[in-house]
Amino acid sequence: MKKIEIAAYGAPEEVARCVEAGELGPPGPGEIVFDVLAFPINPADLSFCRGNYRLHPALPATPGAECVGRVTAIGAGVAGIKPGDLVVNMQRENWAQARRIKADDAVPIPAGVDLAQAAMLRINPPTALLLLEDHVALGHGDWLIQDVANSAVGRHLIVLAHARGLRTINVVRRADVEAELRALGADVVLQDGPDLAQRARDAASGAPIRLGIDAISGEATRQIMQCVADGGVVVNYGGLSGEDPRIDRPSLGVRGVSLMGFMLGRGLAKRSPEAVRALYADLGTKLRDGTLRAPIDSSYPIEAIRQALLHAQRAGRHGKILVLPNGPL
Ligand SMILES: NC(=O)c1ccc[n+]([C@@H]2O[C@H](COP(=O)([O-])OP(=O)(O)OC[C@H]3O[C@@H](n4cnc5c(N)ncnc54)[C@H](OP(=O)(O)O)[C@@H]3O)[C@@H](O)[C@H]2O)c1
Repeated sequence: MKKIEIAAYGAPEEVARCVEAGELGPPGPGEIVFDVLAFPINPADLSFCRGNYRLHPALPATPGAECVGRVTAIGAGVAGIKPGDLVVNMQRENWAQARRIKADDAVPIPAGVDLAQAAMLRINPPTALLLLEDHVALGHGDWLIQDVANSAVGRHLIVLAHARGLRTINVVRRADVEAELRALGADVVLQDGPDLAQRARDAASGAPIRLGIDAISGEATRQIMQCVADGGVVVNYGGLSGEDPRIDRPSLGVRGVSLMGFMLGRGLAKRSPEAVRALYADLGTKLRDGTLRAPIDSSYPIEAIRQALLHAQRAGRHGKILVLPNGPL
């Protein structure tokens, strides 16, 4: 069995290696074994390899926050999952050809889901959903603004917000994605740059922008704070600039804008296991019917992890980079 290992923290394409690992063996009681069909390379995986992520496991370590798998064997006492089922693993270390995990950590997903989309179900769709649900009670017609709108999270958020009758201002760093984001339901697409707050206010025709969502940090956080109306909330959920968020004291102190941080794990931990499964079942249905879809730029075999990682770090991608550890889907 092959898996990806990092033996040191550093440039992802330098530290990640595809290595031969021992066979997993049969599942023990309460365990399942599955073949990993696909995994995406997410920004957090790149941070993990660089040593910038919140988790620093002992090395060597296997990255991989998410994947989709097909169950090959179940251990004694496992109910509700059978060989052949598709599952998403709620635990890490998924950059491998196969995994043996506790059955309780597997979320079954509906048959008929596009496998490549299913590989990207665990993290970004619920992140978009919880960013919308957990911070500000927004009503029909309310405005929000987000940066990194062309990311997978940003695209899911546009779709979910539009379905609720919310209006979105979407900040991007390249103009060529505007038509695609509008087709998803984006009300406004603005290119990042000077006078963003004024352009956002104009776009909303002076209506209050009650929620701001930022995944860049650094100066971008300050900019989004300036876009949000008095008493509004900015939620920071990423640090693509590599910097800590900068805040704007007049926005914070004089206008009463709040800055909050979001982490999917904390958001899910507030919900019961039943609610989490229901949330994933609903998002799985939305993947299956095509309501939610993250574009995919390219796919690579597991042996080509270096090329895959280099590609994932290139600007101007047209979607995610996927790795298919057991061959084409
Ligand atoms: N807190 C959480 O629990 C959580 C959960 C999921 C994701 N996230 C975060 O959400 C963000 C998006 O993740 P994703 O998987 O949706 O991303 P993705 O689909 O891989 O897309 C990455 C996006 O980031 C943009 N980008 C990259 N570097 C940038 C920079 N320095 N300034 C502005 N934009 C930049 C790219 O813009 P172009 O399209 O122009 O190339 C692209 O749209 C990441 O920061 C990720 O870590 C956080």
